[in-house]
Amino acid sequence: MREKLCSELARVTETTALSAAPWIGKGNMNAIDGDTVEAMRSVLNSLEIRGEVVIGAGIMDKAPMLYNGEIIGNNNNLEVDIAVAPVEGRSLVAKGLSNAVSVIALAKKGSLLKVPNMYMYKIAVGPEAKGVIDINATPVENLIAVAKAKGKRINEMTVVVLDRPRHKELIADLYKKGARIKLISDGDVAVGVSTALPDTGIDMLIGIGGASEGVLTAIALKCLGGDMQTRLLFEDDKKINMMKMMCIEDIDKVYTIDDLVKGEDIIFTATGITGGELLDKVVYNGNQAATNSLLLDGLNKEVLRINTLHNLDENKIKVNKIG
Ligand code: FBP
Repeated sequence: MREKLCSELARVTETTALSAAPWIGKGNMNAIDGDTVEAMRSVLNSLEIRGEVVIGAGIMDKAPMLYNGEIIGNNNNLEVDIAVAPVEGRSLVAKGLSNAVSVIALAKKGSLLKVPNMYMYKIAVGPEAKGVIDINATPVENLIAVAKAKGKRINEMTVVVLDRPRHKELIADLYKKGARIKLISDGDVAVGVSTALPDTGIDMLIGIGGASEGVLTAIALKCLGGDMQTRLLFEDDKKINMMKMMCIEDIDKVYTIDDLVKGEDIIFTATGITGGELLDKVVYNGNQAATNSLLLDGLNKEVLRINTLHNLDENKIKVNKIG
């Protein structure tokens, strides 16, 4: 039953990635949503679940499908939380840049933190640095702690930061200490997950990005034994009202990985749209297309890489799972 659900979830992100791929490098960020949200929802709706979208494409009047609170699936017996990013890094797709992925996660009902559309300060690391990060410490103090835990010199550390003016000081401090910084224009989920996979060469993600993306990253890191600490950023009165509505009382509360994702009954899948450290891009060849996905099962501690060859006229023809 769980195995079937896992492979169906991989089908959800594969289908969505295929629907996003024609938009790679077309410069049209807004056009991407329609096709991809529809593709993801059509496959999701056939699943044997009753899922509530808790991290979705937006609020109901702005997102006609996969909005926060929407109920998905066709089985009332299996109630779950659903978190989606049909395309994580829409501008990466529009600009033809790396690390755009399609993501979905399922979790036991009530186990995912419901966050409004807002910013989050986050630090993400892999299993070797579990327990050593502290969001109340400075970025440099965290860099030193993670390097020590990983047995690396500071100048061997690669830290990913979103390239934004708000990170000017953070970037300057890390350079001054001698770290290597990988600046990204968008898409902090793929690189956040990459911190927990040794072959990616990424040691730490730090900085301010989307809160929804933070929860998605936490789900994958939990499956991979990584760690994360975050703080929500309330910028104006409207957000503070939102916070009250969501019963968040402490404005400075530190959300650990276990606050973002309770328990281990979680499944995460991501399929590459454009290629990157985490996943390969969608590759077309005649009437076939190849996709590369990552499937994580928190309960069974399973990490699978899945290569699928799709026949674009009919169904997929070949699946190759690499444990
Ligand atoms: P897209 O809207 O292009 O999908 O961007 C997603 C994203 O880059 C996230 O990965 C990141 O957390 C967030 O946006 C950063 O937000 P901002 O662009 O406002 O700094």
